[in-house]
Amino acid sequence: MKIFLDTANIQEIKRAVELGLIDGVTTNPSLLSKEGKEPVSQLREIVRLVKGPISAEVVSMDADGMVKEAVPLAKLGKNIVIKVPMCEQGLIAVRRLAGRGIRTNVTLVFSSSQALLAAKAGASYVSPFVGRIDDISGDGMEIVGEIAAIFNNYLFRTEIIVASIRHPLHFVQSAVIGAHIATVPFSVLEKLMKHPLTDRGIDAFSKDWEKLKRSLKK
Ligand code: E4P
Repeated sequence: MKIFLDTANIQEIKRAVELGLIDGVTTNPSLLSKEGKEPVSQLREIVRLVKGPISAEVVSMDADGMVKEAVPLAKLGKNIVIKVPMCEQGLIAVRRLAGRGIRTNVTLVFSSSQALLAAKAGASYVSPFVGRIDDISGDGMEIVGEIAAIFNNYLFRTEIIVASIRHPLHFVQSAVIGAHIATVPFSVLEKLMKHPLTDRGIDAFSKDWEKLKRSLKK
C-alpha cells in the first residue's frame, strides 16, 4: 500500500520525506488555508520536495471553472493531480480533464455508487472519507471494502485513496482491504511507528547496558 501525507505543511512534508516513507501528498482548501500562505507558491514548494502524486483541489462550482483552474495547476508539476469534488459538474470536469491527459482525484466520496461513477468518468483516484463517515455513525471502512470489490469486479484502473484517516486502525484496515493508498495526517504517521512495548523494551535495554558498563568499571 502506498502512503500519502495529508497535509500542506512544509515541515511535516520535509520530515516525512526524510523518513523515506512518503509516496505522495494530498492537500485540500482547508489544509492550505491552515498554512495561511499564498496557495500556489505553497504548492510549488511541495512540488519541489515530493516526487510522487500531489493533489491540488479546484474550488469552482461549475465544470468550466474547474477545468479553467485545473489547467494552470497541472502545469505546476508533472506529478500534480487535480482534486475535483464529487458532484455532477465535477464528473463533467473529470471527463474533460481525462481527455486532456490531466489526472484527477475525485474527493468527498461517501458512497460506493459515487466511487463507481467517478471511475466511469475517468478519475485516476477516488478518495472515500472514512473518518467523516464514522463521525456520523456510519462505517467508513465498509464503504472502502465495497469500492475495492466493485473496482476489482470491473477491472477499473482508478486507485482508491483512503482519506479522512483519523487513527492507525483506519490505516491497518485500508491495507487489509487492499486499498491502493492511505493518505494520513502527520500525527497518524507518528502513531504508526509507535508501540508502548517498543518504548519499554528500548528503555530496559538501555538501562541494562548502563548497568553492565557500571559493573565493569568497578
Ligand atoms: C484528503 O484527501 C482529504 O481532504 C482529507 O483526508 C480530509 O480529512 P478530514 O476529514 O480530517 O478533514
